[in-house]
Amino acid sequence: MPTHNLLLLPGDGIGVEVMAEVERVLAFFNGMGKATFEASSDLVGGAAIDRHGTPLTDAALDKAQRAGAVLFGSVGGPKWDRVPYDIRPEAGLLRLRREMDLFANLRPAICYPALAEASSLKREIVEGLDILILRELTGGTYFGEPKEIVTLESGEKRAVDTTVYTTREIERIARVAFDLARKRSGKVHSAEKRNVMKTGVLWHEVVTETHQKHGQGVELHHILADNCAMQLVRNPKQFDVIVCDNLFGDILSDEAAMMTGSLGMLPSASLGAPDASGRRKALYEPVHGSAPDIAGQGKANPIASIASFGMALRYSFEMAREADLLDKAIAGALGRGLRTGDIMQPNMRLVGTAEMGDAIVEELARLAA
Ligand code: IPM
Ligand code: MN
Repeated sequence: MPTHNLLLLPGDGIGVEVMAEVERVLAFFNGMGKATFEASSDLVGGAAIDRHGTPLTDAALDKAQRAGAVLFGSVGGPKWDRVPYDIRPEAGLLRLRREMDLFANLRPAICYPALAEASSLKREIVEGLDILILRELTGGTYFGEPKEIVTLESGEKRAVDTTVYTTREIERIARVAFDLARKRSGKVHSAEKRNVMKTGVLWHEVVTETHQKHGQGVELHHILADNCAMQLVRNPKQFDVIVCDNLFGDILSDEAAMMTGSLGMLPSASLGAPDASGRRKALYEPVHGSAPDIAGQGKANPIASIASFGMALRYSFEMAREADLLDKAIAGALGRGLRTGDIMQPNMRLVGTAEMGDAIVEELARLAA
């Protein structure tokens, strides 16, 4: 039986609460006897700042580099609003992405039938939605230099962010888009702003060339990122895979999340390139943040985190059947009418984090029996 080592980085706020439910799901899979998951934990974000004065220690990064997969919670909160920019909680997550070279961020937005009513869009627009936002995660505006605020001679300040992409960076994310699309309905939309940005011009050119070389069987469409944002609320089901840069992907994935009913539903996988043995570095995290307003109250929706572990089963451990089982268990818990506050609807039963976790583990046991 294979043994997989996991590094858990619960982080701050509701990250801690939802990770506790992931651990229960892990325990269930350990009991199933297909694989053994050995988990260790470390600090990240504000919790690491409080203890070590940095949002990610070198030791924690080293563990993450060596782990079979990293399961991440969330970082940040008002408590750390005043820490210097370079060591703010989010810097811990960005350092993990960058140093592990996790360039491919998969953010699937699936609308479970039970939740079609919970979306702010009409049922018929979102019911059955199954799209994948593929976000480039290690380049663009997030990491481009210079990134600074300087004081001019006049005393006025000037802030600069730099958006940079190279051919290689665009090509490797485009290839992931085509490979993923081939296993889905075979359609990719590439979103950029070539009408105003040089990175958009290059993005468009390289994605087109990569499609010619590596996109056999995949239909490629180019779309301006602002139009994409509009089309997502007008008719999201026209999309299958949307590939875009780091900043557009951040925005479009929050938008897509609301189609699934709540930000509390969206999982994500951040993957590196496979090494010689085929192993990819990987980090799995919910798209939602640390939600300081409800942290510590046992109210948070653990589904995005649990579904992120499901993505780990699929993309890191070749356990697609178990991943499907977990997805069915989540649908089952929702089908029983259980809802956390973020997805609450009339006539449903409001439950907390632990109760939702209980229900998912019970559904797993029932489905596996
Ligand atoms: C996300 C988050 C992060 C991002 C923050 C926490 C730095 O919003 O994963 O989407 O902007 O990438
Ligand atoms: Mn975001």
